[in-house]
Amino acid sequence: MEELISQITSFADTVDDNERKSLIATLRATSISLEKPDDTIERVAVAPLELCGAKMGLDLNVFKLLSSSNLPQSLDNLTEATGADRRLLARVLRYIASIKMIDQPSSETFTANNVTRALCSPKGENFVEAYYQVLTPIFYELPKYLSKNSYADPAGCPKLPFHEVHNWQGDPFTYSDAFPEKGALFDKHMEFCGNNLTNWANLFSLMDKNTSPDNVLFVDVAGGLGHQGARLRANYPDLQGRMIVQDRQRVIDAPTTAEGVERMVHDIFQPQPIKGARCYYIRGVLHDWPDDKCQEILQHIAAAMDSSSTLVIDEFVLPETNVHPYASSMDMLMLASLGAEERTGSRWEELVKSIGLKIVDIKPHRVGEYASLIVAVKAA
Ligand SMILES: C[S@@+](CC[C@H](N)C(=O)[O-])C[C@H]1O[C@@H](n2cnc3c(N)ncnc32)[C@H](O)[C@@H]1O
Repeated sequence: MEELISQITSFADTVDDNERKSLIATLRATSISLEKPDDTIERVAVAPLELCGAKMGLDLNVFKLLSSSNLPQSLDNLTEATGADRRLLARVLRYIASIKMIDQPSSETFTANNVTRALCSPKGENFVEAYYQVLTPIFYELPKYLSKNSYADPAGCPKLPFHEVHNWQGDPFTYSDAFPEKGALFDKHMEFCGNNLTNWANLFSLMDKNTSPDNVLFVDVAGGLGHQGARLRANYPDLQGRMIVQDRQRVIDAPTTAEGVERMVHDIFQPQPIKGARCYYIRGVLHDWPDDKCQEILQHIAAAMDSSSTLVIDEFVLPETNVHPYASSMDMLMLASLGAEERTGSRWEELVKSIGLKIVDIKPHRVGEYASLIVAVKAA
């Protein structure tokens, strides 16, 4: 068996990122297919504790402590550094090691591994906090909510699992306004989401290279902190034309490191004030809304477009079968927090066509990934 594992590991070193992901998916499916009933039941039952393990590892600062050295750290050192009860810490570390978030080379020593370092990165910390504080409790509410409502489609329903859990009326964006700490966590979360996903060459290929510096090249509608425009500029510093990010007042007022992007308060349910821009870009927004609200948002953009404007929707385009668990989890999250959805190609076609635009291209960011640029223009 060791030889087999070593072959797989060596093979993984030789493949590109797509093949590596596909290898992980195949190994995961193989592992599940080998399970006996007890294995399956135990795996499913304790899975939710993993996020709590990550949260304890971060709160105790053990992930950072272990990542700061290549040498194993003793339980004694970690007890002193964390101030935790020694026996309790040993049990927590034993759990965290059992799910491979850290390594345990001997009974009382621990080291960091690739998972440890990922979880204590700024993105890792943000994801664990966002899921622990805000999102995972909504998943817990979902089965109860759906059963109570006889499995009716909650699209457009003002009371969703999100509202039950967070005791809130109004959408999650007004919740973020009311609790600025949660809002800041969410804005940062959006900046991290898909931060290494965009195929900038694909996006650049859609840009008008002849735009004058005074014309608006790129409007990032509900673009959060303006990170996508700033990243596009950083990748293509010679790109001419103004870039504007639009969002709610709180988000536009928030501190950001995004440079080269003008900031503008704009409500997506109001007429688009920037007319005839070369490119209207909207990422991760339409999956937050049911169809009728998306139609409203898109109609305002379409009304501002001229014959040479392009609309670029940056979203998952789900395949019809065998969806990756991360993408199908996002769909459940949209359902439970916003009564919304991740869409398949045919659902996007239907939606875009319904407001008089035409999809001219769908460019996946990466081979085999769902995140894609859906390119639309005014229908002739
Ligand atoms: C899921 S986030 C996506 C952010 C950004 N486009 C990105 O991809 O990182 C949705 C964004 O929509 C903004 N938003 C929600 N309702 C809005 C409204 N009525 N008008 C303008 N922006 C809104 C939120 O503040 C948030 O920044």
